Amino acid sequence: MITEIKHPVIKTLVNHLREVDTDALRFRHIVHELARLMAYEALSDEPLKKREIEIWNSKRAFGFIEEENLLFVSILRAGLPMIESVTALFPEASSGFLAMKRDEKTHQSVIYYDRIPECKGKTVILLDPMVATGGSLCDAISVIKHKEPAKIISLNLIGSPEGLDVVDQKHPDIHLYIAQIDEKLDSNMFIYPGLGDAGDRAYNTEG
Ligand code: PRP
Repeated sequence: MITEIKHPVIKTLVNHLREVDTDALRFRHIVHELARLMAYEALSDEPLKKREIEIWNSKRAFGFIEEENLLFVSILRAGLPMIESVTALFPEASSGFLAMKRDEKTHQSVIYYDRIPECKGKTVILLDPMVATGGSLCDAISVIKHKEPAKIISLNLIGSPEGLDVVDQKHPDIHLYIAQIDEKLDSNMFIYPGLGDAGDRAYNTEG
């Protein structure tokens, strides 16, 4: 299932990412904020588990999200700024990293680093700003599925309708939240109008 978040705050932040005057520091800052806001939305149905804590005048049970059950997986390199803010929100959650690079000629993604911890029974939240052809995300989801998580959620900032269809058709059982579905995938397999390459924008490696 794909959910595009329609909130004006989200749209404003995405459109600032498009601006060429947004430098790498501000770009990463906006990505932090968007990831945090999207995690808030994606976890809105998460159950609360009661745990007894000591408060100012007694001991009482209160509800908390089971953070230890959350596993955030960042797809490097562009997913790196996303994981920083969500793990600040949930310090007890664990983190995993999957490095993928889209071959510029074949547009196929290649996994070259897999550091994903045990996923069994966990809620795995994939983080990657872009869904262009959808190839990288489909491959990442397949890798995670082999590790038997309870649930997979994907948080993405911008995507093409074509790439999102590919992901939805191949993995209809995951819930993907996206901040912006753009017009199309262009002939170079870039998101149009898009924001450029999120990894390059975040780390000053354009050109
Ligand atoms: C970008 C992006 C996705 C992928 C999307 O990463 O962050 O991982 O491309 O393209 P796809 O949907 O067609 O597979 P890129 O390969 O540019 O690597 P980077 O994060 O190091 O910039």
